[in-house]
Amino acid sequence: MSLHDEVTKRKTFAIISHPDAGKTTLTESLLLFGKLIRSAGTVKGKKSGKFATSDWMEIEKQRGISVTSSVMNFPYKDFQVNILDTPGHEDFSEDTYRTLTAVDSVVMIIDATKGIEAQTKKLFKVCRMRGIPIFTFINKLDREGREPLELLEEIEEVLDIETYPMNWPVGMGKRFLGVFDRQGKQFIKYNGNEEETTIPYDELDNAEHEELVSQATYKATEDELSLLDEAGDEFSMKSVMSGEQTPVFFGSALAPFGLQTFFDTFITMAPSPAPRKSTEGIIQPDNPDFSGFIFKIQANMNPAHRDRVAFLRVCSGKFERGMTVKLARSNKPIKLSQTQQFVASSRDTVEEAYAGDIIGIYDPNIYRIGDTLIAGKSQFEYDELPQFPPELYKKVTAKNVMKSKQFRKGLEQLVQEGAIQLFKGHRSDSNIIGAVGELQYEVFQHRMKNEYNTDVMLESVGERIPRWLKEEQLDESLYDERNLLVRDREGNPIVLFKNEFSLQWFKDNNPKVELIDLYEVN
Ligand code: G4P
Repeated sequence: MSLHDEVTKRKTFAIISHPDAGKTTLTESLLLFGKLIRSAGTVKGKKSGKFATSDWMEIEKQRGISVTSSVMNFPYKDFQVNILDTPGHEDFSEDTYRTLTAVDSVVMIIDATKGIEAQTKKLFKVCRMRGIPIFTFINKLDREGREPLELLEEIEEVLDIETYPMNWPVGMGKRFLGVFDRQGKQFIKYNGNEEETTIPYDELDNAEHEELVSQATYKATEDELSLLDEAGDEFSMKSVMSGEQTPVFFGSALAPFGLQTFFDTFITMAPSPAPRKSTEGIIQPDNPDFSGFIFKIQANMNPAHRDRVAFLRVCSGKFERGMTVKLARSNKPIKLSQTQQFVASSRDTVEEAYAGDIIGIYDPNIYRIGDTLIAGKSQFEYDELPQFPPELYKKVTAKNVMKSKQFRKGLEQLVQEGAIQLFKGHRSDSNIIGAVGELQYEVFQHRMKNEYNTDVMLESVGERIPRWLKEEQLDESLYDERNLLVRDREGNPIVLFKNEFSLQWFKDNNPKVELIDLYEVN
């Protein structure tokens, strides 16, 4: 198979949602389609439905498959599917955002009973910023939820994206009868515990379907559908590809209902690996020279070995085990040999990979998040990964002052690696750590102890909104604990506002002070 064909058959995507919307349940069905698991309930065995990473790893050991919070890959029909998990729940961290820089599209799951929730909104914004296609799955149709039209309106208003319903549900909860598949021109009938059946539109008038079509819910929806056909937005593949229109599917991950049609349509429509911006212009995925960038570094994946794994997204060419590549930042050659693992179905050593794939490479402490690796003569770096605004801030100190040297070293390295963001006191030496989620602090604390032998103390500064200032406009008297003046790593002044209200109050009272938001996602 040619390099071009290998690349085009790859579909690399992430599933984003708010906790409890049904990501685990849906992912499990996709793994079933991919034959990675044999029966439902394999991944979600526990009553609570919540999985700590360790549970996943336990399952992985038992099954010999990878359902970890990393990468799942499997062949499906003519495609090679790569699903990147974006840890939700308490595992939310900057990594969650960064993972979205390594995919070509996303599936956004929305709970029909709740609509858009906070975490979905945050993750959506990152996808929006990248302009990647977003496919929406509105889940839990088997329960009484909100009206479909109302949900679409909310998506359009809150997320500012056009919607195009690919199917249209008939009733919900106890009255749920199925969906009209607008593209396939067929009705997909919900049969409770029995498998769903499909009825082509032109057979719906047949006598055998009399019971279905005579129901009031069905009739009402038929009218709604005609209205949608006449007055709704037109489907535009171009708008979908640029992330301006989202195809919406209604279904139920648990029932399960509508998943096969959803997945088949999604996987056909989802884009193959896209060209990527670099310092030397656009790099095509079927460029014969291997290149990729590191979007995540995971420490202590295996507690017994204390190793680190760098996750690399292949962006062009072909990876072959044992090949020598260059670390673009330092121009140093590195042989990617035995130690690579493909973070894949069986955690095998990977022999080869293509643009779109994710490989795990052993990291003897040399990589940083955002690093570019290239083979061949080319010399370029991929665009820097965006930094995401921390929401939580904590003051950090070493428990034992005698350890201050290791403390500083650890802090410096973890910042460089992208594990945390560091701010300094404006006039003091204090260190304030910014993070997106609590998990980042836990990992930080753990790694400081294990890798730098330093116990650290964290003291909350609370949630904050960061804004940069111009040095020439700096008037110290304007700032206090509420609007905390600090310095970023380069020494630039930055104010951590207590909340939206303080920020607004400050703006109203100091209209001349320019407040700059350098984070790209907000
Ligand atoms: P998450 O990974 O996004 O956090 O969600 P997860 O799949 O764990 O689902 C959260 C809860 O919602 C689970 O219930 C799950 O069974 C339920 N759920 C998922 N999809 C559907 C659906 O289509 N319909 C209905 N009615 N429920 C759905 P739980 O009570 O927390 O767990 P469990 O006891 O069922 O395992």
